[in-house]
Amino acid sequence: MDFNLNSFVRSSLLSLQPYQSAREEFVNHGRKMILLDANENPFETNSNRYPDPLQVELKERIAKWKRVALQKLYLSNGSDEFISQLIMCCCEPDRDSILILPPTFGMYQVAAKTHNVGVVEAPLTSDFQIDFEKIKSVLTPKVKIIFIPTPNNPTANSFDNETLHKILSSFTGLVVIDEAYVEFSKEKSFVLQLERYPNLVVCQTFSKAQGLAGARLGMAFAHPELILFLNRIKAPYNINSLTIGTALQRLNEQDKVQSQVKYILNERNILEIELPKISFIEQCYPSDANFILVKVDNSKLRYNQLIERGIVVRNPSKNRGCANTLRITVGLAEENKALLNALKNMEEYHEKSTFYRP
Ligand SMILES: Cc1ncc(COP(=O)(O)O)c(C=O)c1O
Repeated sequence: MDFNLNSFVRSSLLSLQPYQSAREEFVNHGRKMILLDANENPFETNSNRYPDPLQVELKERIAKWKRVALQKLYLSNGSDEFISQLIMCCCEPDRDSILILPPTFGMYQVAAKTHNVGVVEAPLTSDFQIDFEKIKSVLTPKVKIIFIPTPNNPTANSFDNETLHKILSSFTGLVVIDEAYVEFSKEKSFVLQLERYPNLVVCQTFSKAQGLAGARLGMAFAHPELILFLNRIKAPYNINSLTIGTALQRLNEQDKVQSQVKYILNERNILEIELPKISFIEQCYPSDANFILVKVDNSKLRYNQLIERGIVVRNPSKNRGCANTLRITVGLAEENKALLNALKNMEEYHEKSTFYRP
């Protein structure tokens, strides 16, 4: 497929002159300089200077780690920011649409609506797989981006690779494979497919397995021309220096991250054995991530009973196909034990409680 940036990007943005920040205008190649160019406070606080707008040091490390050319890498204030920026970059308000596959991650829709962009839906099948024929039937030339999280949130399963390849090779717009949970997954990352599909965009995050949800750092991998464009529209200093420092440090701790992932997957296995034994858990869906979706008798009741016992899970029951479900993040061993104890205690409570009205 030929990559023609003009067919992906909003026309009004093609002629945009990007804001030239002080740190971009003068690049200090290691020489000690007196910086009087950015109206900063000269007294040292560890972050009194603006950060590198293009995060070159961090990107060099990530590019090496992911085996991707630096020109294909974009960093954002969490994947949430990237999702919004990509829609802003590619979709004409009041005209274009994105395609989502519900039940899916909620931010795609929020970002689209924020930018006055339409949302077309191709729901997953009842076993939470992609319905390729449904996608074909709802696609129109106005759909510019398809968002596919795999493993999917809130269902936790990964999608069939063959279907993803079929979508990538047949759709003429951008396909975002959102790999927020990739470190937990048995599937290989699509980052390795960037050469093959110019319309492929992969996003990953430091918020999940990397353990830096509070630092807010997302990574997107895409065609270099699209990255250039995102760099032109982004806020000049979207990644702050504290986050850059924390992420650089985390990159030195990948052995630790891997052992944490192993621990979490082991804990997930225990939960997958124990949860189906709870009488009011009707189904425990297969997970390829660090959370599990379960179907219960009454999600509102069970959610509130867990809150009473000091445990917070997510109730995604409003999502299509997710009635009476709870989404449970895998925690530390003692937290998971506390969860199982609470669930067992709720079984007894339910049996004894004859006055309860849901
Ligand atoms: C599929 C998916 N993508 C993206 C995100 C957001 O990631 P970030 O914390 O980097 O904004 C989440 C968070 O729950 C998610 O589930």
